[in-house]
Amino acid sequence: MGPSPFLKEGTAPCIYKTMWTKKNLQALTQEKMGDYRFVVASNRQPYVHSFSRGKKIGWQRGVGGVISALDPVMQACQGLWVAYGNGDADQKVTSKDGKVKVPPDKPSYLLKRVWLNKEEEMGYYYGYSNEVLWPLCHMAFKRPVFRQEDWEYYKRVNEKFAKAIVEEINGKKAFVWIQDYHLCLLAKYLKQLAPYQIITAHFWHIPWPSYEVFRICPQKKEILEGLLCNDLLGFHTRYHCNNFLDVIDRELESKIDRERESVVKNEHETLIRSYPISVDYQGIQTMSESSEVKAFQDALVEEFQLSGLRVLVGLDRIDYTKGIPERLLAIDRLLEKHPELREQVVFLQIGVVTRLHLTPYKDLNDEINALVEQINWKHSTPGWKPIIFVRRHFSLIELLALYRISEAGIVSSLHDGMNLVAKEYVASRTDGKGMLVLSQFTGAARELTDAVLINPFDKEQFSDGLYMALSLAEEERNKRMTKMREILQNNNIYRWAGKIISELLKFEFAE
Ligand code: G6P
Repeated sequence: MGPSPFLKEGTAPCIYKTMWTKKNLQALTQEKMGDYRFVVASNRQPYVHSFSRGKKIGWQRGVGGVISALDPVMQACQGLWVAYGNGDADQKVTSKDGKVKVPPDKPSYLLKRVWLNKEEEMGYYYGYSNEVLWPLCHMAFKRPVFRQEDWEYYKRVNEKFAKAIVEEINGKKAFVWIQDYHLCLLAKYLKQLAPYQIITAHFWHIPWPSYEVFRICPQKKEILEGLLCNDLLGFHTRYHCNNFLDVIDRELESKIDRERESVVKNEHETLIRSYPISVDYQGIQTMSESSEVKAFQDALVEEFQLSGLRVLVGLDRIDYTKGIPERLLAIDRLLEKHPELREQVVFLQIGVVTRLHLTPYKDLNDEINALVEQINWKHSTPGWKPIIFVRRHFSLIELLALYRISEAGIVSSLHDGMNLVAKEYVASRTDGKGMLVLSQFTGAARELTDAVLINPFDKEQFSDGLYMALSLAEEERNKRMTKMREILQNNNIYRWAGKIISELLKFEFAE
């Protein structure tokens, strides 16, 4: 390997002028991490092992933004990933201390699974994480449900993660990179257990709410104090950083240094920075042009009888923040206003079922079923219906094929930290075709300003946006897609990870 572009002078690697790639992220970690351990911690695991038919063990890549962003990073950096082992065959394939090499078909880094019992999963994951922090941070008008016992489980599981990591570090020094809202207290416990050995960064993958919203949380002080045990705290946008600083300003005794963008509490400084997350642009681009993706495109057209139709696509976890009913209603309105589109257009939505134990998710599923049925009944003609709703797992290759058969991809979140489906969609369209219809309430809308931006709460404007996406002249469509692709080529996932890891490497371990 040639000399890396950041091995000039000083401790801070700087390659902002150079394009970040998998290779130079790899070089950064190899050259600068030295003997230190590199650990990523998240609730969701990157690979799940489960029993398929009979006693055969199969595996799948986990779903969600954290996985699609961090799996390529970990394949480049080869550290240790600590996460909750939720697959029914997970224990069968791990060593005694819960470890297994992944990806299973191309082992390149270690996954250590933390085991949770049903009560812990219920209280920490379904309860505090997804009935308190999730609705609290998203402006989707769902009321958080506070239960003291969920908070107790949340603390207990965070502590469990800390113990698992300290056990792994085994006396060495380590950089620990914490992900998301499930692990707000992890840095605090880690530093209690191993004060001189650990430097932490925490990346918050969802929006951070305004003070007016956050202040209702009964455990707000503990959450804030927990997050301020990190050395670095990252959000997708400056706006979320400002919301966080505003909350700190009003809730905690601390010193906010606006110039350094940091908070000092009990003599410990936490840097607050924005890092917009992204996708593996190059990887997606290469994969999108493969013959495998082409074969899946043909298979999808065949399976859903899409030949000769203009296809709109959507892909989401079935979550009330994603604006799925709003999207269906916009399709309905589009067909009301433009009946000439009947028998021409079809909307193919892939819905990934999650968190079904929670009532709002079950209710949303029922609402979606009813709407699909109602809208299809209203507009269908013999042999044609406007909406195809599919609930099954799509591999990354199938997803790329799905994007590429469409005339437009629709992302209509009511509120979203970033939304990586939007970025994946753009990255996959190496043909310069397609168009992104994107909610203005996603983090992605701040970068992808050439998308057709819509307000999902406004059915008229949303349906007009859909019509516009279908009517754009080829040249205009191409120009917009090219501009968006250029942005992603630069702001790719390796840049996101590289910037955070570079910042992390500047910290010195306490003496
Ligand atoms: C949100 C979070 C992601 C997470 C995803 C999946 O998008 O920001 O970090 O990966 O939800 O959620 P789940 O509850 O299925 O792990």
